[in-house]
Amino acid sequence: MECCVIGTGYVGLVTGTCLAALGHDVTCVDKDRDKIAALEKAEMPIFEAELEGLVSQGLSSGNLRFSTDILSAARSSEFVFITVPTPSDGGGHADLSYVDDVARTIASAIQDYKVVINKSTVPVGSTKRVQRIIEESMEEYHEFDVVSNPEFLREGSAVSDFMKPARVVIGSDSQKAIMRMTELYRGVDAPLLVTDPVSAEMIKYASNAFLATKVSFINAIANICEVVGADVREVSLGMGYDERIGFEFLKAGPGFGGSCFPKDCRALLMIARENGYDFDLLEGVLKVNDEQQERMVAKIKVLVGDLEGAKIGILGLAFKANTDDLRDSPAMNITRMLVMGGARVTAYDPQAMENAAAQLESVAFAGNAYEVAEGADALVLLTEWDEFKWLDYERVKGIMRCPLIIDTRNCLDPAVLRKLGFAYEGVGR
Ligand code: UGA
Repeated sequence: MECCVIGTGYVGLVTGTCLAALGHDVTCVDKDRDKIAALEKAEMPIFEAELEGLVSQGLSSGNLRFSTDILSAARSSEFVFITVPTPSDGGGHADLSYVDDVARTIASAIQDYKVVINKSTVPVGSTKRVQRIIEESMEEYHEFDVVSNPEFLREGSAVSDFMKPARVVIGSDSQKAIMRMTELYRGVDAPLLVTDPVSAEMIKYASNAFLATKVSFINAIANICEVVGADVREVSLGMGYDERIGFEFLKAGPGFGGSCFPKDCRALLMIARENGYDFDLLEGVLKVNDEQQERMVAKIKVLVGDLEGAKIGILGLAFKANTDDLRDSPAMNITRMLVMGGARVTAYDPQAMENAAAQLESVAFAGNAYEVAEGADALVLLTEWDEFKWLDYERVKGIMRCPLIIDTRNCLDPAVLRKLGFAYEGVGR
């Protein structure tokens, strides 16, 4: 089936590549010429496991192409995916200008039946908005349908999330579009939920907001655990065995970040407010999240005595492991707060350092974790990269000025570290 994917950001690139791997004929388009030129050589703009190999496969099989010509790619495809960014406009609203521009371009490409699929995270009601923009921009009417098909990919496991999702959600009022979408996703083994467009859009926001709520909930529990002397990891485990709760998204840490949870929670708050509902619970989720990052800094401050002049080593800057994404990263926020507090900070991240260097002033960057530890008064683990779990901590202790580890991801073994002579501090344990 002929597909065109407009926008080669995270979602677009993964969607297009995976559709090609399923055997569809896919053209991924973007107006960024340099990006398209790089992708034609299978050079990745992002770090994402499995993606590079699949792009190379798609290019050599001929199922996957890259182009800057949106109009002709859309014209020759039955399925046109919109996967452009919807950044926050600062006030909590999603900025829909990219989506609107693409809708106008698609209007001039429609000459025979097309299914236009919105995968960008858009406010409730946007499917109808895209439908209206296309209708108004068409010179001559041709049949088309607009479908909401939210994505649930996680950075770091995006390819497997696409191929083996928990569900595929199709929001449409058109029987014809639903049939075509069902055919398109035939190779994906997952329950298919067919619903109306507004409910599909709401499913996306509600899912992210609920997962963010779980994270803030467990962080709040972690803070209580610290006071009463419980271990939040044991508490999460004990809760998770109850299938109604589940084990996922109950890891306490420095707070949630990334391009989705903070932005989508703020957008949902706004949608609720504009519809006359004060979503106090979600407001609390964001408040706990902001405070959690500040709590990490306060904890470090107490442990090192005084931030002013303290030499602090940072392990990890990405918002979570297995990605180079720094958007709304708690690690970046905490690092900035430490610098503002007067600390001398050296940082290392296996993938995100190049991007971080452009954003962080007054931070030195190291080539590996051991260089970060050299002469440090404290080592602060902020992103749970596997390589930090398997460091030679005996060597680390030997090169630090003061053997203190603050593990904001609870991913190290306190007993082992304490035996080696470290002072160890986790979150909620
Ligand atoms: C999230 C959702 O999980 C995806 O389903 C969704 O498609 C995506 O947003 C999106 O809307 O595009 P992602 O932002 O890649 O995916 O990251 P997550 O793995 O969900 O983690 C989000 C944040 O929560 C991270 O900062 C992570 O460290 C934090 N987290 C997660 C915790 O602190 N504890 C946990 O137990 C789980």
